[in-house]
Parts: sequence; structure tokens; C-alpha cells
Amino acid sequence: MAKISIIGAGMTGASTAVWLSQREIADLVLIDVVDGVPQGKSLDLLEAMPIISKDVTITGSTDYAATAGSDIIIVTAGLPRKPGMSRDDLLTANANIVGPAVTETLKYSPNAIYIILTNPLDTMAYLAMKVGNLPRNRVIGQAGILDSARMRAFVAMETGVSVENINCYVLGGHGDEMVPLTRHSNIAGVPLSEYIPAEKLEAIVNRTRKGGGEIVNLLKTSAYYAPAAACAQMAEAILKDKHLIVPCAAYMEGEYGLNDMFFGVPVMLGRNGLEKIVEYDLNETEKASFEKSAAAVRETHEALKNLVKL
Ligand code: 2OP
Repeated sequence: MAKISIIGAGMTGASTAVWLSQREIADLVLIDVVDGVPQGKSLDLLEAMPIISKDVTITGSTDYAATAGSDIIIVTAGLPRKPGMSRDDLLTANANIVGPAVTETLKYSPNAIYIILTNPLDTMAYLAMKVGNLPRNRVIGQAGILDSARMRAFVAMETGVSVENINCYVLGGHGDEMVPLTRHSNIAGVPLSEYIPAEKLEAIVNRTRKGGGEIVNLLKTSAYYAPAAACAQMAEAILKDKHLIVPCAAYMEGEYGLNDMFFGVPVMLGRNGLEKIVEYDLNETEKASFEKSAAAVRETHEALKNLVKL
């Protein structure tokens, strides 16, 4: 059995373990700094396995040694947002958590592929790659699957069509300037604009962009079920070498005219992690939205570089 370690046993990390255990694709390790929490949550989840008929080993620890030999490390550790906070407000605190988490886990799993979830997402993925001195195929940020799933859910609510028929592509940075590509999004192959009146489509785009904030306002903390489900889908695509194309944050080496930064783009996931980046043909309006989003991400990357020597 493959092995996946989840760093951070808060709501997101624990939810990721739940979604992953149901897939029966890997033994799971939960790591957290709060003694008792990773042990307790993993034991609780382990005791659910006979009920859902899954043979998965789940352990919890405060000691990174427990992660030894992981195929995938999922980093969820860090502070969540509170109402009124942007994802970027978490930069300093979370950089101090994600950096050491990558350094420590790499000691025990030198070949692991990293899925980064901690916010500000694009910049934490950048930090992970630089701190770990990792090739770009081994660091992928989770954001686009979540943002696209939110849009798909809103389209399903509007049209009454099965979520399975709804394909949406939200690219760009994981912030308010993210880019929901309505032209590429469709319902069973039919463009969204043929199903949904323009003003309603615009409302869906706006709600998608603020989807994380909508949950923070309700819960007074960040979302976890959907972000965790997205991590599980990424891990499965990697372990099963599916060559699944999904929007993820990837390190850009000239794609879409961007360099030395993480950005949400369609990525093919397989056993090597990032197998390739898919480049869409964008029109001028879409290119302008990409550039605006890229500028916002670059700003946070610069703020990180002022904090940490990379
Ligand atoms: C969200 O959008 C937590 O950033 C995550 O909900």
C-alpha cells in the first residue's frame, strides 16, 4: 500500500484523511503539533474502517519520523482565515509553519510529492519548492479544483443539471482575482452562456471568486470539506497515474508567459506529480484577467521573499 502523510490534523487535514480513507488507496499518517489530536483523530477514523469496509492503516503522531517513506505529503498545517482576513494576511504565520514542515518531512521521505493546501496557497507552494529545493513536478498547490468545484456547484444549483455534467475551469491565483473561464466552461459540451443568462452567469462568477470568503463569514474560519476533497482527488490521480487534467497551482516556466511563480493552470497529474501543464488559447480579455491575477500573486511572492531568504 502506498503511504500518504497529512501535515496538520485540523479540520482540513482530518477531512482529507476521511476522504482518502474512503478511497482505500494509501495508508495514512496524521501529524500535528498538538499532542493527542493527531493520535485521537487517527484512532477514531481507524475505528470507522470496519464500518465502511476499508483496509487502511491510519496513525497519528507529533513526530515527523512517523511520515518516513511517504509517497505523498499533503501540507494543510497553518492558521485559517477569520472574517475580514484575506488569504495573504496569513503569510508570515504560515510561512513559519510550512517551511519547517517541508524541511522535516523531506528528511524522512526524500522522494515524496508535495500537495500544498495552506494559504496563501500559491506562495506557500512557492516556499515549499524553494525550501525543499524540489523539482517542479513534485510540488503542486491545491486551489483550482476547489474553486472550479464551487463554480460547478453554483451552476448546478442554477440549472438543476447533474454536477457530473458541469465542467468549469477556474484558473489563476487562489485569491479574489482568480479567473473563472466561462468561455471554456460548459454543461455536457454546451457553453454555459447558452444555458445561463449573462447577468446570472456574472453573479456565479462573482460568487465563485468570493467562495472561500462566503464560508469564512458563515463559519468564522476557513472551509475544509471541499478543500480536503480536492486534495484527495489530487492524491488519487497521482497514485493511480491517471493523467487527470485538473486546475492546480504549478510552478511556471514560461507557460502562459509567466516565470518563477506558482499560478493556477490546467495540470496533468500522474505518478510523477505534475506531468505537464496544458496551455489554453486565451483571448485578450482572458489574458488581461490572467495578468491581473498574476500581478496579485507576484506581490505575495515578493512579500515572502522579504520575509524569508530563498
Ligand atoms: C478556501 O478558498 C481555504 O482557501 C480556501 O476556502
